[in-house]
Amino acid sequence: MKVRIAPLRLPDYEAMIKLWRRAGLMSRVNGRDSRRAFARQLRLNPGLYLGAYEGDVLVGTVLGTHDTRKGWINRLAVDPAHQRRGVGTRLLRACEKALARKGMKVISAFVVDGNDPSMNLFRRSGYERVPDVVHVRKKLQADA
Ligand SMILES: CC(C)(COP(=O)(O)OP(=O)(O)OC[C@H]1O[C@@H](n2cnc3c(N)ncnc32)[C@H](O)[C@@H]1OP(=O)(O)O)[C@@H](O)C(=O)NCCC(=O)NCCS
Repeated sequence: MKVRIAPLRLPDYEAMIKLWRRAGLMSRVNGRDSRRAFARQLRLNPGLYLGAYEGDVLVGTVLGTHDTRKGWINRLAVDPAHQRRGVGTRLLRACEKALARKGMKVISAFVVDGNDPSMNLFRRSGYERVPDVVHVRKKLQADA
């Protein structure tokens, strides 16, 4: 069956969390991946949270965000049963287009060191590794 890319909806929440687990992605269901947080993010990022659907079944996700200066690719994930068929690349492209429509001219993503599938996908899609950058952060709430 054909896979189509379309905006994620709130009713996709449970399927999305399960898909991330199957794909081995960590989710912060008590923090920024809670249902409530997801609902808020969907409202604030219209058209940037995308799903890949086979029929009605969610088989991939990408959450696009921007801070008005840069676009960010988050939670790019494809169900293991559907990987290696170009779905991740299509999700990434669709999200890039949506971010470009919002005026973003730079798109970034965090990739965990050693995540070769992800790194290969980004490289093949034209991304370059930024040397000598260290990610620092401060959590204003422990489970955020
Ligand atoms: C990364 C991920 C989204 C790729 O999804 P996908 O639908 O399989 O990706 P595509 O089919 O579009 O693959 C595009 C390219 O990425 C690379 N790639 C994908 N999976 C790979 C793997 N298991 N090993 C090595 N390279 C891989 C290949 O270069 C591939 O091109 P090719 O199939 O022609 O060789 C998927 O593996 C996944 O969900 N991983 C777990 C979650 C994750 O780590 N997400 C990234 C967070 S930054």
